[in-house]
Amino acid sequence: MKKILLAASECVPFIKTGGLADVVGALPKYFDKEQFDARVILPKYTCIPEKYRNDMQFAGSFYMYFNGRDRYVGVMRLELSGVTFYFVDNEEYFGGPSPYTDARYDIEKFCFFCKAALAVLPTIGFQPDLIHCNDWHTGLIPVYLKNEFHSDPFYAGMKSIITIHTLRFQGQWNVKEMEQFTGLPNELFTPDKLEFYGDASMFKGGIVYADAVTTVSETYSREVMTPFFGERLDPLLSARSNCFTGIVNGIDTEIFAPAHDPLIWKEYSAEDFRKYKKVNKAALQKQMGLAADPKKMVVGLVSRLTDQKGLDLVARVFEEMLYENLQFVILGTGEKKYEDMFRYFAGRFPDRVAACITYSEELSHRIYAGTDAFLMPSLFEPCGLSQLIALRYGSVPIVRETGGLKDTVQPYDETKNTGTGFSFANYNAHEMMATVRYAENVFTNDKRRFNQIVERGMKMDYSWNASARKYEALYDKVIGG
Ligand code: ADP
Ligand code: GLC
Repeated sequence: MKKILLAASECVPFIKTGGLADVVGALPKYFDKEQFDARVILPKYTCIPEKYRNDMQFAGSFYMYFNGRDRYVGVMRLELSGVTFYFVDNEEYFGGPSPYTDARYDIEKFCFFCKAALAVLPTIGFQPDLIHCNDWHTGLIPVYLKNEFHSDPFYAGMKSIITIHTLRFQGQWNVKEMEQFTGLPNELFTPDKLEFYGDASMFKGGIVYADAVTTVSETYSREVMTPFFGERLDPLLSARSNCFTGIVNGIDTEIFAPAHDPLIWKEYSAEDFRKYKKVNKAALQKQMGLAADPKKMVVGLVSRLTDQKGLDLVARVFEEMLYENLQFVILGTGEKKYEDMFRYFAGRFPDRVAACITYSEELSHRIYAGTDAFLMPSLFEPCGLSQLIALRYGSVPIVRETGGLKDTVQPYDETKNTGTGFSFANYNAHEMMATVRYAENVFTNDKRRFNQIVERGMKMDYSWNASARKYEALYDKVIGG
């Protein structure tokens, strides 16, 4: 039995701000339980819903020297859906209404989390063969493992890998304070290790010290080795390319299941969506106050509202697109300029545009179920889960060909009648609009073909089955023997 510990800053159902949480919540459920004992470690944020916090059991506590003094480290344990979760408790660091606060404070608290995640292991009696780190928040785990903990026999043979969910955020801070927070020796803060353009980078440290590096799609793994996508880490990733791979994400098909989804109005499957999906569409139009018109193509957009998601293209041509036979339903929060843009359009065209500037699990499911198409024109997209969910709910994705969007959405080819969505190559607003127009054209004038696209998408297997096997193979390879 191989023992794996996944470490992350967020995880469904406890805490989620984006797709990282979906991945960490789903992946451990899909490992072969005969061969892998995979557990998860997270911070115990006070903003985790009370129903979960109440079920956690105390698993030990101690004091750990960190940033100038001994600090409390508690550890709680909870089992859910056959997976064991551990939570690192320290209210000074993990209090507050959201998992992330300001940059300076986030750096310190995730440095603490990295060290504590290793320090708790003897207390909880779990000695993983491999720690699977995720994003910059866990970047110091491989660094601590190879530099501070390795001399203790408990940790000696432990391996680590790190998965890049996005390179956009790297956990950078000035070297002086990073030395103070981490207690790591000055000789680690050199350009071949943690130093990064004058600062120190947690993500870089993880990428340097992990035994293998992965990212969440093959295309993104190639993209990040180029300057545009590489966020200045492209040379390092190229240098590590012999142990750097892309493994595409899946979705949790227990949660995203149109045939068994209590959050939607009418359940449906790839066999009967032609009859029942329209019930969801009509109900969505009604709930959103849109014109009750089955002939309009309703386009959904469920997203963090940031420039990564291609919203500048949307801003550029949104009004022009509205002259088509379209309605839009937007659900998201994020940068104020995008929130205001969608509020403005919803106010101006209330029968054609609905904007919910909030976070809602329930409404997201209803949008995936009630829309005909789903727009995701991302500037970059390491993998993207929204388009996978949209495919599963029969909302035809319209995407830009980048990262995981390119790997998971097969463009419609009208000569062969193949494909599961519509896509365009360049980051260009009019190219996006032409693609939306093309989709709308097929929707309006060739409904039979459009429904075949829907059906092919719904039948694709984007569960974790295939990708969980790839992680298992990588774990085996890194652990050896
Ligand atoms: P990212 O991780 O970059 O935000 P992904 O496509 O990988 O993008 O994952 C986004 C996840 O977050 C999806 O499950 C999507 O449905 C969900 N999501 C994004 N915004 C919202 C929101 N406002 N309300 C509910 N779910 C949201
Ligand atoms: C990041 C990426 C997204 C990916 C998710 C989970 O948030 O932006 O593309 O799907 O992580 O890996």
